[in-house]
Amino acid sequence: MSLKKVHDKQPDTFEFTKENLELANSILKKYPENRKKSAVMPLLYLAQNQNNNWIPLAALKYIGNFLSMPYVNVYEVATFYTMYNLAPVGKYFVQVCTTSPCQLRGANEIVKVCQNKISKDQGTISKNGLCSWTEVECLGACVNAPMVQVNNDYYEDLDRANMEKIVDSFMQDKPLEPGSFRGRKNSAPEEKENKTNGTTNA
Ligand code: FES
Repeated sequence: MSLKKVHDKQPDTFEFTKENLELANSILKKYPENRKKSAVMPLLYLAQNQNNNWIPLAALKYIGNFLSMPYVNVYEVATFYTMYNLAPVGKYFVQVCTTSPCQLRGANEIVKVCQNKISKDQGTISKNGLCSWTEVECLGACVNAPMVQVNNDYYEDLDRANMEKIVDSFMQDKPLEPGSFRGRKNSAPEEKENKTNGTTNA
């Protein structure tokens, strides 16, 4: 895993929109008075959604002030979790799980497709500006390995051929539907009838 990329062109200031400020205050109410700092993660996520899917350093400072929390502690959280982007990402941000179960099921092939079709290096936006990709740790869908997360959706049960089609669809700004690419319903068995030890399970 590479170190998190921080954008070299930073805005001077950041503040929540009126709507997000209301949302931030309602998030704060969920935490006890002496545990307000625990709201740092949802507030970072809110800032990221507001700023086209990446968080400027000014937003880290703003959130630090908002929560009376040292800037460095906000920075630590934002740089630890891959869900926070500190530099711009593509409209379609492809996160490839490369943890062991996905590796064993062919995640390297999925990475190669991203390198060939999006950009050689992770964290670099494609020439048409639509896509970027990165490697991430387990996304909790190991039973559908290998898989990728694209924005808020999961594309699962992948192989090189269907990943090529998926990436092509993003590069043409006509995204394919997410889900299993072996036709499974969530993580259910592929066949309607699953015969085990002579018994039939519907
Ligand atoms: S190892 Fe890839 S989703 Fe868990």
